[in-house]
Amino acid sequence: MSETLHFNDKVVIVTGAGGGLGRAHALLFARHGARVLVNDLGGSAHGGGANTSAADRVVAEIQAFGGQAVANYDSVIEGAKIVQNAMDAFGRVDVVVNNAGILRDKSFAKMEDTDWDLVYRVHVEGAYKVTHAAWPYLRRQNYGRVIFTSSTSGIYGNFGQSNYGMAKLGLYGLTRTLALEGRKNNILVNAIAPTGGTRMTEGLIPPGVFERLKPELVSPLVVYLGSHQCQDSGGLYEVGGGWIGKVRWERSLGAGFDPRSGFSPADVAEQWATINDFSDAAHPTDNVEALKEMMANLQKFAG
Ligand SMILES: NC(=O)c1ccc[n+]([C@@H]2O[C@H](COP(=O)([O-])OP(=O)(O)OC[C@H]3O[C@@H](n4cnc5c(N)ncnc54)[C@H](O)[C@@H]3O)[C@@H](O)[C@H]2O)c1
Repeated sequence: MSETLHFNDKVVIVTGAGGGLGRAHALLFARHGARVLVNDLGGSAHGGGANTSAADRVVAEIQAFGGQAVANYDSVIEGAKIVQNAMDAFGRVDVVVNNAGILRDKSFAKMEDTDWDLVYRVHVEGAYKVTHAAWPYLRRQNYGRVIFTSSTSGIYGNFGQSNYGMAKLGLYGLTRTLALEGRKNNILVNAIAPTGGTRMTEGLIPPGVFERLKPELVSPLVVYLGSHQCQDSGGLYEVGGGWIGKVRWERSLGAGFDPRSGFSPADVAEQWATINDFSDAAHPTDNVEALKEMMANLQKFAG
């Protein structure tokens, strides 16, 4: 264990920590000295039911090696209760790991409003509610680390996961703006797109690979992002199977048209190959950089 990477005075909330990835995160934070609020509603992977035993089991595991943890059974949709519980139990909150999640996979043709809404509510509204309730404490103490759990299904799309993909990439949009808003109070916000063998992916990942994609192989990144040692914000990291990589936006240099005379759909067609050409592509990291080529085009045709 690195000497500088400790959480001895820190309190960490991990949502959905009764199993899968969240359990592994909670255990690793606790092993690094954090006091951990283990939240889990204890429902099914489809969002039905509730059970206190999932969170209780993980708390018992942490206590068994001398770690400090309390269980919380609220839904993330009631995020303020979760944060209040951490304040009551430990008196502070330093790190929020938004991990709770469900799946309601269906092709878009068969998607029902309940599938769409529930996935939105747990992943997006839940992460919003927990983070929003913790935000004033993080601001006041000028310290915070927030981690959102995105997915390659959001980044790249995945058949049957329009609801889930929408929610998961939405969390990256939230990450980007909170990274900007949190920076002056030393609140750093990052997102992960994990892959792990859990009940959520059982039957989806081929056996043989499933067992090797241990949830524990995701947690070192999460604990690092949650530490004071991490100084990066607004990042999106793919992680799993012992591998970690960073994702960024890439945008073609594009094609410019004369904004004074306007241009036709046929002009777009003519420039289509250039618009889609990624040689000399830009990698904008903020709105100003993103607008650079557009502004240059206005300038080119000014007057
Ligand atoms: N496993 C993967 O390969 C993978 C890939 C991409 C993203 N993810 C994301 O990682 C996170 C963890 O998933 P997992 O694979 O460990 O699945 P999991 O089903 O094992 O764990 C999710 C946990 O969240 C809890 N939960 C669900 N709804 C909740 C709610 N409303 N309030 C509180 N807790 C709730 C569940 O009870 C469960 O213990 C999810 O956000 C998931 O979307 C997982």
